Amino acid sequence: MQEILDAILNPGTTSADFAAIKLPESYRAVTLHKDEEQMFAGLDNRDKDPRKSLHLDEVALPELGPGEALVAVMASAVNYNTVWSSIFEPVSTFAFLERYGRLSPLTKRHDLPYHVVGSDLAGVVLRTGAGVNAWKPGDEVVAHCLSVELESADGHNDTMMDPEQRIWGFETNFGGLAQLALVKTNQLLPKPKHLTWEEAASPGLVNSTAYRQLVSRNGAGMKQGDNVLIWGASGGLGSYATQYALAGGATPICVVSNEEKARICRAMGAEAIIDRSAEGYRFWKDENTQDPREWKRFGSKIREFTGGEDVDIVFEHPGRETFGASVYVTRKGGTIVTCASTSGYMHQYDNRYLWMSLKRIVGSHFANYREAFEANRLIAKGKIHPTLSKVYSLEQTGQAALDVHHNKHQGKVGVLCLAPQEGLGVTDHELREKHLPAINLFRELDERSIRPNRNV
Ligand SMILES: NC(=O)c1ccc[n+]([C@@H]2O[C@H](COP(=O)([O-])OP(=O)(O)OC[C@H]3O[C@@H](n4cnc5c(N)ncnc54)[C@H](OP(=O)(O)O)[C@@H]3O)[C@@H](O)[C@H]2O)c1
Repeated sequence: MQEILDAILNPGTTSADFAAIKLPESYRAVTLHKDEEQMFAGLDNRDKDPRKSLHLDEVALPELGPGEALVAVMASAVNYNTVWSSIFEPVSTFAFLERYGRLSPLTKRHDLPYHVVGSDLAGVVLRTGAGVNAWKPGDEVVAHCLSVELESADGHNDTMMDPEQRIWGFETNFGGLAQLALVKTNQLLPKPKHLTWEEAASPGLVNSTAYRQLVSRNGAGMKQGDNVLIWGASGGLGSYATQYALAGGATPICVVSNEEKARICRAMGAEAIIDRSAEGYRFWKDENTQDPREWKRFGSKIREFTGGEDVDIVFEHPGRETFGASVYVTRKGGTIVTCASTSGYMHQYDNRYLWMSLKRIVGSHFANYREAFEANRLIAKGKIHPTLSKVYSLEQTGQAALDVHHNKHQGKVGVLCLAPQEGLGVTDHELREKHLPAINLFRELDERSIRPNRNV
């Protein structure tokens, strides 16, 4: 592994040199163990601790298939899907691996008693499989997490519609939280040159998701002047949605849960910010009953910022807890676009407010190949910036996932894999210099607010 790292750190290494490196038989990876699927049975969601389920193991190098690449991972990131997999909710990811394994002898490789998780990476291509022409050893890349087979016409117009659509490192094995990773080469995108490895690895999943959900015509199709209500506006998805709203001439109305997060939204350029904790909204009176008066109080607060207008788009992902309010506060003809249900997936809302006011609920999930490319292109051009707040080592991935699980983080948290330290990998210093304050925004604000009991 040292030979691989030395080659990456040496700017003179050629593609032929990379191709000549002898690959190791095994590598270090963050894994879940199949025989521990039931380890949290009976515990409350919050008490399920990713530090107990995520292991750092030495695992065998998988065989490289046609159309695939083996990538040396310099850095990766924790996504909320790392939390879901590590607490085995809503289902164990081993069920996904088993199903994938039934497809073909090649996919059978994924069905193992361990699952290497992680759906983001920045690194260097080491080998490509048969039939790959566009990528070669030595290419500096990031990988998006859409894994598709594309054997059915269903996915030929929009690759997210492929019946065999999966999220790499969540529904497939050999993910990015490791020293090496296996991807389909159609997942590869050029690494933004002005970013460090850990910065480049952090936007992928959430940036592409927010792009489809908010900007793409497959999602809400946001336009200039729209009022966009963004839940969790300083979180993984929300920190990109806020940037897209601002960059696209819309007005974000940012919902957060404390002043620290409000400060981050202000620093991004948002002016309308609602602190849901300070306002004390209780959309549910009890487990089964919502309180429309609270929806109304929330809607009145939004109107204070918009000069009396209601929102054109709600960027939804908290799910059960907020969905009734989201449907209520959307303007006549507006769109509620949802990609998740963090607080519960059995939603309840008053349908009269939907049909009588001709609103639309749009489901959105990750991004197709083209959307992922466009979202990465905006990062590479310095139009949208990473929202990395903190970086952990591979050994500390469990702690990183716990922090995200307990909503203690800002924006995105990164993980160093092969990279020996932060700050490496920049090749366009001029572009970096131009955007440095924006690139460091979440880090600086987070550093100023580090709490003493936080495990770094
Ligand atoms: N379908 C997809 O392709 C896709 C892609 C990415 C993520 N997701 C899902 O989307 C969800 C969010 O992901 P993320 O990366 O943005 O996570 P994140 O970084 O944890 O951010 C989510 C934010 O939502 C807010 N929130 C959480 N619970 C809430 C509640 N009950 N009511 C109101 N706000 C709440 C929190 O912000 P405040 O505390 O500041 O309000 C939190 O910071 C996860 O469930 C994830 O699995 C789906």
